Amino acid sequence: MRHLLSTGDLSRDDAVLLLDTAEEMLSVAQRPIKKLPTLRGQTVVNLFFEDSTRTRISFEAAAKRLSADVINFAAKGSSVSKGESLKDTALTLQAMGADAVVIRHGASGAPARLARAGWIDSAILNAGDGSHEHPTQALLDAFTMRRHLAPSGDRSLEGRRVAIVGDVLHSRVARSNALLLATLGAEVTLVAPPTLMPYGVESWPVETSYDLDTVLAKSDAVMMLRVQTERMNAAFFPSAREYSRRYGLDSRRMAKLPEHAIVMHPGPMNRGMEITADVADSVRSVIVEQVTNGVAVRMAALYLLLSGARDAATTSPATTADLTEGQA
Ligand code: NCD
Repeated sequence: MRHLLSTGDLSRDDAVLLLDTAEEMLSVAQRPIKKLPTLRGQTVVNLFFEDSTRTRISFEAAAKRLSADVINFAAKGSSVSKGESLKDTALTLQAMGADAVVIRHGASGAPARLARAGWIDSAILNAGDGSHEHPTQALLDAFTMRRHLAPSGDRSLEGRRVAIVGDVLHSRVARSNALLLATLGAEVTLVAPPTLMPYGVESWPVETSYDLDTVLAKSDAVMMLRVQTERMNAAFFPSAREYSRRYGLDSRRMAKLPEHAIVMHPGPMNRGMEITADVADSVRSVIVEQVTNGVAVRMAALYLLLSGARDAATTSPATTADLTEGQA
């Protein structure tokens, strides 16, 4: 693995290696000193052309916990046309010696362009491109599901049923999750009003439904998506009230879930729209835990792409002891 652009590129072995490595990283995050010397001397650039709170901070925390140097580059507001600005920025970052570039961009395919155009040698990590993909979000979601739904044994999500609900059309989180969860053997059902179901969904490895109540009763995890009004140029549903009534998760609806099921949301939430405040803050909600797990998953991704490339001959760490060994 040289870049992390799409969960569709990950084999089951790659995905499981990332999740297992993240497990080791999480144990580091629970220590009093949350830092490993693994990426000392390497530079990670956070290149964000689009707004972000948790993803940017999470990547920054992850890189710093691995002792990398971090440069934050908020590229939003650049007046240069997109293709040019991306190329010029890439050449600048190359000249500065960036080892990894974490990129969020409004245009689908921008991270792949950066990885393949030959402007820069760095490892490229997609932190969300348009409505296309958000692979580290899907990995942290799968990681969170695994901790709750497959806490022991083979840790497999095989046969686990996941409902992804709401504005699927605009959601890079939904696409990355659908691809990754299928690779991991889970069964995904997308639930959305017909206007917010993506085009070509027939080719996705998922089931679809317009009826949330029926799907909830047989779900192990339900992932509520933010209604992305900033990506909407038309009326996709009659009113916010009508949307919530049919596709929002409130406590009455949550009661239809099996006892063990968890409630997820990638954030930022529109409380009262796709999810009510009491559901978001309920004991079934793992939303805050998703954020914690995000740092561990991004540490794993940076570690495997950066030190993995450097010591290509050596195998991945079995334990955190291996991560620190010989590098302190
Ligand atoms: C998501 C994103 O930006 O794609 N948020 C995130 O990364 N945590 C989902 C969203 O914006 O709704």
